[in-house]
Amino acid sequence: MSHTGSVLCLNLLLFLHVVAHFRNNAQQQWPVPYRRVDSRPAADSFCEALFPFCPTGDGDGRIPSMRDSDVISVYRLQTPVWEFKYGDLLGKLHIMHDAIGFSSSETGSNFTVEWYELFQLGNCTFPHIRPEEYAPFWCNQGAACFFGGIEDLHWSQNGTLEKIGELTGNQFNDMAKWVQDDNETGIYYETWTVRSDPSPNATVWFESYDCSQFVHRTYRKLTELGAKLSSKSQTNYTKIYLFSGEPTYLGNDSSIFGQPALKNLAGDIRTFYHTFRPHQTFVDFAVSLLEAYEKVVLEKSFYLYYNFEYWHLPMKPPYIQITYEEVPLP
Ligand SMILES: *[C@@H]1O[C@H](CO)[C@@H](O)[C@H](O)[C@H]1NC(C)=O
Ligand SMILES: *[C@@H]1O[C@H](CO)[C@@H](O)[C@H](O)[C@H]1NC(C)=O
Ligand SMILES: *[C@@H]1O[C@H](CO)[C@@H](O)[C@H](O)[C@H]1NC(C)=O
Ligand SMILES: *[C@@H]1O[C@H](CO)[C@@H](O)[C@H](O)[C@H]1NC(C)=O
Ligand SMILES: *[C@@H]1O[C@H](CO)[C@@H](O)[C@H](O)[C@H]1NC(C)=O
Ligand SMILES: *[C@@H]1O[C@H](CO)[C@@H](O)[C@H](O)[C@H]1NC(C)=O
Ligand SMILES: *[C@@H]1O[C@H](CO)[C@@H](O)[C@H](O)[C@H]1NC(C)=O
Repeated sequence: MSHTGSVLCLNLLLFLHVVAHFRNNAQQQWPVPYRRVDSRPAADSFCEALFPFCPTGDGDGRIPSMRDSDVISVYRLQTPVWEFKYGDLLGKLHIMHDAIGFSSSETGSNFTVEWYELFQLGNCTFPHIRPEEYAPFWCNQGAACFFGGIEDLHWSQNGTLEKIGELTGNQFNDMAKWVQDDNETGIYYETWTVRSDPSPNATVWFESYDCSQFVHRTYRKLTELGAKLSSKSQTNYTKIYLFSGEPTYLGNDSSIFGQPALKNLAGDIRTFYHTFRPHQTFVDFAVSLLEAYEKVVLEKSFYLYYNFEYWHLPMKPPYIQITYEEVPLP
């Protein structure tokens, strides 16, 4: 038995070696580019939203067209995710949600656009280990939601509602087309930013893909379209970091979970994710984060799922960090 075990292990090592060699020759690019798709597939019916996604938005993601003569104000919107206020361990986390508001001066109508998880943060961060499916099962789609109105009280009372610029109708319409295309091709949420260490000149191995990244992309697009954006206050955003040495590429579902030779690796990944609880609430998610922290510190190892593929991260201190740091407007 132990003989078979070591043969498997050797196979795994050889495999990792070959893959690493292949990847190195191909000049691995860091951070690994986020992979886009041609069109967004429907989410699997196993994934059931506790809260409906984008309940007041247009079902087909339509965005009204503006007259070019219109002047459309742009608002920076940010609010804390309140659930994190509860529980002594969770109180210190500075988890914010970001969005962008628009207000047409010709029609007086307001709009909000935000990008968030279809099945909440926990489901985008930890998969389900299902008895009937060997590979961990992810409900990790995220998408843009465009809806009428700006919930003034919601954003201004405990967060930020600040006008940062103006658009012409044409600039707004061009942005709308871009949002729809971005939404169709960038389909999954990524919680983690992975870097080599906390210093400013660290190597970034993987970028997150979350609500604040959508806001940054949109601001960049608006600037590219000719808009001028500026804020009177510091523009800080939440980042959830993992710290690791150089990641090793492992493979995708079929190459890992469909290969008898990689049974040990497949088992390790299942065991790694089995620790985390099924996630119903933000509190459950935060508990899973703490469990992840303990596990990662003990084992110095993390299996990251990115671009529908697995990577091994050789973790190092400070392992996991949640920051609220400045990202200036473009
Ligand atoms: C996460 O996904 C599971 C599986 O579909 C689902 O039962 C649960 O409601 C989801 N959680 C949230 C908060 O949407
Ligand atoms: C983005 O995609 C989601 C999921 O298909 C859809 O519900 C939403 O309306 C789309 N939003 C926009 C702005 O296209
Ligand atoms: C639109 O939003 C702006 C900024 O929040 C607010 O001052 C204005 O009253 C809103 N107008 C409507 C019709 O809701
Ligand atoms: C603002 O924070 C207070 C105190 O934490 C809370 O009671 C209130 O509901 C919050 N307001 C909004 C609009 O979220
Ligand atoms: C930045 O990089 C240099 C060498 O490349 C290194 O010596 C230094 O410790 C790094 N960190 C900071 C904060 O400068
Ligand atoms: C998974 O990886 C294998 C080997 O690299 C590749 O041939 C296959 O197309 C990939 N499958 C998917 C669904 O991307
Ligand atoms: C905003 O970010 C800056 C730099 O990243 C930091 O020094 C500052 O403390 C942050 N502000 C808050 C309120 O956390």
